[in-house]
Amino acid sequence: MMTANHPLPRRGRLSAGILLGLSFLLGSIQAHAQETGSVTAGREASQACAACHGAQGNSNNPAFPSIAGQPSSYLANQLRAYRDGTRENAIMNGQAANLSDQDILDLAAFYAAQERKVARPAETGSDEGRVLYHHGREGVAACAACHGAEGHGNQPAGFPALRGLTAPYVVQSLQDYRSESRVGGRAALMHPLAAELSDQEIEALAAHIATFD
Ligand code: HEC
Ligand code: HEC
Repeated sequence: MMTANHPLPRRGRLSAGILLGLSFLLGSIQAHAQETGSVTAGREASQACAACHGAQGNSNNPAFPSIAGQPSSYLANQLRAYRDGTRENAIMNGQAANLSDQDILDLAAFYAAQERKVARPAETGSDEGRVLYHHGREGVAACAACHGAEGHGNQPAGFPALRGLTAPYVVQSLQDYRSESRVGGRAALMHPLAAELSDQEIEALAAHIATFD
């Protein structure tokens, strides 16, 4: 049994402290959720995407890029760019047209949380591509600095993984950055680099990237 003198006020102070702490915690969880979206809601919404990108975002069809494990900020940027038409692609402009801001955050959270798998790494790469990828050259920063030595990307920095992307997709992306027809997101980071690349270098880089497993 407790006396009314000390324990009660003390408990009162304690629980006030705990409540305060909890409300800070909940507040920050909520702020975080609003920023990054809900994996559960994203899983639900991803049913519309599974036919092309695979159930977990690992595509078996070279016509559709794998999107599993990409940084959520990268995914959200791309979906916004498709929605507002700054990244042009007839299929994806249609797919993204009716997504709300929250849908985009949820889908980005879901796919970012999936493990990225590479179905069929290419067997023959390109020495020219490998050297350029790792060391760059004047005017072209080493790809590895941002995308990782084996194409794993950089989650905290929001740099996309390149492993699992097919050579034709990489060629298309680099050509689109070079011509600045691919804009939106952080494409401006890729523009000056891509502007320096010859067709042959683009082919060589794509061949090297396709070997990442
Ligand atoms: C009918 C097939 C199809 C469906 C359905 C589809 N996509 Fe795509 N998606 C594509 C194609 C094709 C591309 C490559 C477009 C390009 O080259 O810009 C793509 C590209 C993407 C990219 C960019 C990948 C990258 O590496 O930059 C994201 C993100 C994406 N889709 C998300 C989604 C989401 C989320 C959904 C569901 C709401 C969805 N897609 C539904 C075919 C599809
Ligand atoms: C300074 C960091 C940086 C360097 C260096 C860099 N990239 Fe990127 N790369 C990015 C960022 C950021 C994006 C996402 C841009 C966007 O939002 O469209 C990107 C996107 C890409 C994409 C599109 C990925 C996708 O899923 O559609 C490809 C392909 C690519 N880079 C290849 C390369 C190659 C090849 C090199 C070397 C010649 C290179 N990058 C060097 C930062 C970098």
